[in-house]
Formats: sequence, C-alpha cells, structure tokens
Amino acid sequence: MMLPEESYLQFTPDLKICRILNGMWQVSGGHGRINPKNAIESMFQYVDAGFTTWDLADHYGPAEDLIGEFRRQLIATRGEEAVNNIQAFTKWVPRPGKMTKKIVEENIDISLSRMDVKSLDLMQFHWWEYRDSNYLDALKYMAELQTEGKIKHLALTNFDTEHLQIITEAGIKIVSNQVQFSLVDRRPQVNMVKFCHEHDIKLFTYGSVCGGLLSEKYLGQPEARGFDLNTTSLKKYKNMIDAWGGWGLFQTLLSTLKQIADKHQVSIANVAVNYILNQPAVGGVIVGARLGIAEHLEDNARVFGFSLDAEDVEKIDAVSQQSRDLYQLIGDCGDEYRR
Ligand SMILES: NC(=O)c1ccc[n+]([C@@H]2O[C@H](COP(=O)([O-])OP(=O)(O)OC[C@H]3O[C@@H](n4cnc5c(N)ncnc54)[C@H](OP(=O)(O)O)[C@@H]3O)[C@@H](O)[C@H]2O)c1
Repeated sequence: MMLPEESYLQFTPDLKICRILNGMWQVSGGHGRINPKNAIESMFQYVDAGFTTWDLADHYGPAEDLIGEFRRQLIATRGEEAVNNIQAFTKWVPRPGKMTKKIVEENIDISLSRMDVKSLDLMQFHWWEYRDSNYLDALKYMAELQTEGKIKHLALTNFDTEHLQIITEAGIKIVSNQVQFSLVDRRPQVNMVKFCHEHDIKLFTYGSVCGGLLSEKYLGQPEARGFDLNTTSLKKYKNMIDAWGGWGLFQTLLSTLKQIADKHQVSIANVAVNYILNQPAVGGVIVGARLGIAEHLEDNARVFGFSLDAEDVEKIDAVSQQSRDLYQLIGDCGDEYRR
C-alpha cells in the first residue's frame, strides 16, 4: 500500500510528515498488553504502508524506547537512509516548579538517549498550571537547546489560545500545538484555529476518532458502558460524548456519518478524520495505534482518497448544532487538564 502525495505535508523545511500520525499513547498501558517484539514488527508495517510519522511522549510507557529500537532495526536492515524517512514527535510533561537550564537539558537528554537520536524532530511541551509561569523559562531554555542542536522544532500540547499567544509574543517560535479536535469536541474552532492560522502554527489533533467510538462498531448499538469501554481512550471519549449530548445524539451523528461514508464508499472513521484534516490550520490527525494488537492501516489509507462536499459538511454541522457547547462547559483547548 502506498499513500498518495496529498497524504503528506511539508511541515517544516526539513520535515515532510504523513498527515495521519501514528499515536503511541496506546502502548503506555490501559489499552491491552504490548509485546515489544510484535510492536516493532507492527511499526515496520506502518512505515511500509506510508504512515511514517509517530506521536509519542516521555510518559507513554516504552514509546520512546520503541522508537529507539525501531530506528536501530531500520538502520540494521535497511541502512542509514531509511531512518531519514521517519519522524518522531515526542513530548515533555514535567511537574510544575522552578525550571533551570540543567533541569530542562537533563530531561531532553533522556528523550534523546531513549529515542537514540542526536536531535529531537519536535518537542511538544505540556504544562499543568498556568498560575506557575515557569513554563516560559522552560521554553526559553528549550529554545537555547534548539540553537545548540538538540531540538529541531519547538511545539506545545494542550495549550489554550491565551497562553499560546503569550508564548508567541515572548518571541518563542512555536510550530504546532496538539489538541483534542473531533466532530464531538470542536472547541478549537472557537479561538484556536483562527490564531494558529494567522500565526502559521499547525494543529495536530487527537481524539478525532474518539478512541474508535466514531466507527461502524458502535452504530445502532446500545449505550457503551463499563466493560464495553475496554481502553482508557474509549472511557475518555465516552465521557466527552456524555458531556457533548449523550448516546442518543451520538447515534444521530453516527448514522449521518454512515450515509456520507456509504456515498463515498469509505468508513465512518474515514469521514470523521477527513473532516478534521480539512479544517484550517490542521496539519495532521493523530490516530492511536495499538501496536501488535489491532490495526486499521488499509481503512485509514482511504482518508486521502475522497473529498467531502458542501452537502456532506452541512449534514454533519447540523448534528453538531444540536449538541451542548463544550467550550462553555469545559473551556478552551486543554482546560480539562487544568481544573
Ligand atoms: N496530547 C495529549 O494530551 C493527548 C491525549 C490523548 C491522545 N494523544 C495522542 O493522540 C493519539 C490518539 O489517541 P486517542 O486516545 O485520541 O485515540 P483515537 O485516535 O481517537 O482512537 C484510537 C483507536 O481508534 C480505533 N481506530 C483507529 N482507526 C480506526 C478505523 N479506521 N476504524 C475503526 N476504528 C479505528 C482503534 O481502536 P482498536 O485499537 O480498538 O481497534 C484505535 O486504538 C495518542 O496515541 C497520542 O499520541 C495526545
């Protein structure tokens, strides 16, 4: 399977990425037991299918180590050139508190060593507490490490628009922000998309298939609860659906998406991802990958083979208009992590 050219984005002058990124939170526990050997074999399948870009974090269990091992095996079996075609975007999620250059550098060094790279492609920084303004120091030191070559590009995850603006105005060049964005959670459309579009910042989105809830598997089914929700991801997005409008409205959304999917001969997940990929400022959609347990490569490749028309978009938006306003209920992007 090869992906068409429009599946890729020249994200920065040095990084051409796949617009569906492989999400590695799913290897961190709570999504089924990961066998490292099977996981690495599966990573080869993703890359061979054209899905070359990985999203991970320092706290996603063995994710950074899997990238390191995958890179070594790629080099051993296919030569040095092969690793130049993959991109691995990690995160640093420190506890708030005083930030010194030493603290920041030590943590970046851990990721460099685990991922077995000389320079991180993208460092997506997370911060838990805006009342603690040390995040600006952390970013300032990361910018120094960027100049020194340890980081290629600086990015954020779960920052709201207000603080993204503060950081931008402090002169720190941010290339992307990673946020929850789906047909259920449209909070980025309130402020974030516009700000990012105007400041040449890309959004990488998660939750765009709601842990798998946005699929045929749940269409026409009784409300998923308890043991039905057997991954942390499913539980997370079921809570979001409950806040958004509940299972009844979600079924209306699924059946609307199914009609549209049938028209284009694709899946519900394809429609859900395609819609988000087409929003301004969106650089890519991260789709969680339970490496060695389940994969949807062939289906997800179809995202790039069709276009939603105005009538499709109108039908989807008409369902969204019946939902509660999650921006009012929760706040801007990432506010759910700071309550
Ligand atoms: N920055 C943050 O705070 C944050 C938070 C959450 C996630 N993330 C990132 O985003 C990634 C995505 O995670 P997520 O929790 O948001 O999950 P998600 O991508 O919404 O859902 C992933 C699950 O959807 C199912 N799926 C994928 N493609 C499908 C298809 N074509 N048809 C049907 N089902 C399909 C799979 O379920 P099965 O495996 O059961 O088949 C998969 O495990 C994470 O790995 C992580 O990299 C970041």
